[in-house]
Amino acid sequence: MLSTRRLSPADLPDAARILRAGDLVAFPTETVYGLGADATQDRAVAEIYAAKARPSFNPLIVHVASLSQADRFAILSDSARRLADAFWPGPLTLVLPLRAPSAVSRLVTAGLDTIAIRVPGADIARALLSEVGRPIAAPSANPSGRISPTTADHVLSGLDGKIHAVLDGGAATIGLESTIVSAAPNPRLLRLGAVQQDAIEDVLGAPVAITSEDTITAPGQLASHYAPWARVTLNVVQPMSGMAHLGFGPGPATFNLSETADLVEAAANLFGHLHRLDALGQPISVSPIPDEGLGRAINDRLRRAAAPRDSSGGR
Ligand code: TXA
Ligand code: MG
Repeated sequence: MLSTRRLSPADLPDAARILRAGDLVAFPTETVYGLGADATQDRAVAEIYAAKARPSFNPLIVHVASLSQADRFAILSDSARRLADAFWPGPLTLVLPLRAPSAVSRLVTAGLDTIAIRVPGADIARALLSEVGRPIAAPSANPSGRISPTTADHVLSGLDGKIHAVLDGGAATIGLESTIVSAAPNPRLLRLGAVQQDAIEDVLGAPVAITSEDTITAPGQLASHYAPWARVTLNVVQPMSGMAHLGFGPGPATFNLSETADLVEAAANLFGHLHRLDALGQPISVSPIPDEGLGRAINDRLRRAAAPRDSSGGR
């Protein structure tokens, strides 16, 4: 891709078409610009990680046009519904039990059985979501480790040539990421943002504990969710009998992440293949994956899958 197209609000139907085709479009929300992909397409979601050069698969926030759309992908408790009624559309993300079976890619939820979801407040974001008619996964539209973008120029300075288009809707009005509340089973504040803690407590009529989002995404906690029951051995060049092999590149394999050694395809297949392998109940061997670009995130996840289980056996 040579350069990223800058679209104006009048081009919104174009932006929607590009997203439905599985390509990336950065778009403004009231908080920051998001890097959007169709959340139902594994490959499109994998492209997000590639464009951002994100070194690990953190779960992403899914953006929907309305509460009724959120109901299709998540299970809302009474308290979650009260929060949604009070703050949507707006800068509040709710982490909710995933409604199964889900059309949302496992790469979006990073294999968890919860989903982070919000209805953004910016008119242009809601118009785009309605036009697309699908859930849109979107982290902030900046290269990994860089500052979140609040204008289309910020997006282009970091991602020009790496994404298909940016929808320029002017500056994000809030400029700070959404507040994240985990609503199951007891509401907890995972990330501070534009919606304040006391406003949330007013709606719930009860205090909410603050849990840093780091504790949620910390390896120790998330690792368990990614880990298959079977023992996983990495960097295996020759598959052995009695083991199920997860391949990369040409060669024999039980499942292949990408026969053409394409890292984006491999990322898109990763969680699905791990689940399929897990169902076989055999020890798992994995081909070496180059530790560059998206390969770093894939290896991060595979190392967690291969890590020894703790003594509690928990996962
Ligand atoms: O304002 C925002 O929220 C922006 C705009 C674009 O909407 N988006 C954003 O996304 O900040 P991102 O990917 O940078 O932040 C997602 C956060 C991560 O910290 C992740 O840990 C948390 O949401 N998250 C997502 N799914 C989760 C889950 N199932 N459980 C716990 N935390 C989750
Ligand atoms: Mg971010």
